[in-house]
Amino acid sequence: MSKSLQLGVLVSGRGTNLQALIDAVKGGTLDAEIALVISDKPEAYALRRAEDEGIPTQVLLPETHATRQAYDAALAARLLERGVDLVILAGFMRVLSGAFLGHFPNRVLNIHPALLPDHPEEDEVRLPDGTKSPVFRGIRAVRQALEAGVSWTGCTVHLVTLHVDRGPVVKRQAVQVLPGDTEESLHARIQKEEHRILPEAVAWWAKSCTV
Ligand code: GRF
Repeated sequence: MSKSLQLGVLVSGRGTNLQALIDAVKGGTLDAEIALVISDKPEAYALRRAEDEGIPTQVLLPETHATRQAYDAALAARLLERGVDLVILAGFMRVLSGAFLGHFPNRVLNIHPALLPDHPEEDEVRLPDGTKSPVFRGIRAVRQALEAGVSWTGCTVHLVTLHVDRGPVVKRQAVQVLPGDTEESLHARIQKEEHRILPEAVAWWAKSCTV
């Protein structure tokens, strides 16, 4: 029997996307095993979620590494030690350098709380109502969508490259912005879709990117 896909999940916060992966694995809709969860923040609630399921966790503090490259190399080494096939950034609040990505070519997925375009150089994305919206990259994407007054935003799972939020898109879901939305209410609706498309994207990767 072949070994199931080994996932390494990197987190910094609440870990609701990690929970969606845990639930998909437990529910049998995702044929994979979460081999290791690593956080850069010891207080991340995501660590508790993993511990509750008996999933190995580690904390890797940025301040104990002299450079970003040293941190990224240590992070990669820990995942490789555990035989991780695919790395998922599930709310991991650090940008990864070549010192990490070189170890996992086409093997890192990120979930981003906005719609990203098919072509990385594009700065506009087409919305379901036929209009176009600016692309919201970076860590303030939900707030930026609200401030821009767009009618739709969404979420995207993409492969991670050296160019932040510009890797090839794997899955995307549009979410309507409703009158009276706050950053919290809009983010909550986006996250509902994230929790659906992230496990689907991992399953797609397992089918399409492994031999
Ligand atoms: C998600 O909204 C994701 O899009 C962004 O960070 C958030 C993480 O949320 N990259 P959680 O920790 O999975 O609840």
